[in-house]
Amino acid sequence: MLAMNYRGPKRVRIDNKQLPEILHPQDAIVRVTRSCICGSDLHLYNGSVPDTRVGMTFGHEFTGVVEQIGSQVQKIKVGDKVLVPFNIACGKCVFCQQELYGNCHESNPEATAVGGIYGYSHTAGGYNGGQAEYVRVPYADVGPSVIPDWMHPDDAVLMTDVVPTGYQAAEMGGIRKGDTVVVFGAGPIGIMAARCAWLFGARRVIVIDYVDYRLDFARKYAPCEAYDFRSLEDPVVFIKRTTDWMGADVCIDAVGAEAAGSALQTLLGRKLLLQGGSATALHWAINAVKKGGIVSIVGVYGPIDTLIPIGNVVSKGLTLRGNQASVKRLLPRLIEHVRTGVLNPKALITHHVPLEEVSDAYRIFSDKLDGCIKTVLIPPSSRN
Ligand SMILES: NC(=O)c1ccc[n+]([C@@H]2O[C@H](COP(=O)([O-])OP(=O)(O)OC[C@H]3O[C@@H](n4cnc5c(N)ncnc54)[C@H](O)[C@@H]3O)[C@@H](O)[C@H]2O)c1
Ligand SMILES: [Zn+2]
Ligand SMILES: [Zn+2]
Repeated sequence: MLAMNYRGPKRVRIDNKQLPEILHPQDAIVRVTRSCICGSDLHLYNGSVPDTRVGMTFGHEFTGVVEQIGSQVQKIKVGDKVLVPFNIACGKCVFCQQELYGNCHESNPEATAVGGIYGYSHTAGGYNGGQAEYVRVPYADVGPSVIPDWMHPDDAVLMTDVVPTGYQAAEMGGIRKGDTVVVFGAGPIGIMAARCAWLFGARRVIVIDYVDYRLDFARKYAPCEAYDFRSLEDPVVFIKRTTDWMGADVCIDAVGAEAAGSALQTLLGRKLLLQGGSATALHWAINAVKKGGIVSIVGVYGPIDTLIPIGNVVSKGLTLRGNQASVKRLLPRLIEHVRTGVLNPKALITHHVPLEEVSDAYRIFSDKLDGCIKTVLIPPSSRN
């Protein structure tokens, strides 16, 4: 089958790989119909995630048709059209029981923090992902969800990560009626977080990035105020000034390890890899939130130590909350939001690209070319 193949930092290509097989009675094999490229894939692409092995296929956001099921699978059948949450979860462990599906204790033997994730290095379990024609789906009765007939396929694929992650970013912020919410990052996740902040009662939503076309997109889509941090003398001082020097009620980090804007953080986190990424946006979020406020972190960082102003966290009495989104927990209410038109995820998709052109697709998404917000790869069998 055709599959994306990681060859080392900034090098991915399309290759022929062996078809996946059922390895366990609870597995399914899914023929992929759509798979996205995510900001999380850029951490792998740039070589910042430990134990990302050459030969791995990325892709944790995908939809498909069930092609084959193991002998114990009962809830889905061959021919079902499914969307598959990016978290691989057993459904039974103590964490899954609390609906912490991103922290499953069974699906990732390599770590005690994150659970298994499709196509996300051996630190997330070593599973191959969906940027391919076929993918093996473990615990097939737990993750996959049959796509409602009325749902557009582009909406469906964004339910596997972008919509739940943006929503959970706002939810973890504990936003209350009348709050001012600042979202760092105008990628798909930040834009969706800004959109969802209104659902929790925000009175003012501000997005910070430095890519003009993304700021324009956020302004219209969220809708919100949006600012280029390069045009602000200091983003933290700007946020304080515009909130009567109190600070924002809630700050959301939707940037993560690849953040720009601080030479020191870039050197330590992106060039020398001495910390788990560049924590510039997180730093700004901590310093720009008001005393007693909440910083919600969905931006992904590596597992090693990272410089953040912990003294300010303590002295300001802040709450820091972060996690991988618990996709399965949120799906019922988010499917309803799409059905009723409260959320329109597919508007984020700017590029539909043949799977065979995966290498160009990564370059365009990574370099922020051609107005790219979100890219969907389409395998040959799903093109007409
Ligand atoms: N927790 C989860 O479950 C989860 C799920 C999906 C994605 N993520 C993470 O969310 C983050 C965003 O994902 P995405 O797909 O939107 O990525 P993306 O790369 O498309 O967007 C990130 C944006 O941040 C901007 N940026 C860079 N430095 C900045 C700074 N200092 N301040 C403000 N903006 C800055 C970039 O210009 C870019 O537009 C990534 O770290 C990704 O790994 C987390
Ligand atoms: Zn993703
Ligand atoms: Zn579990």
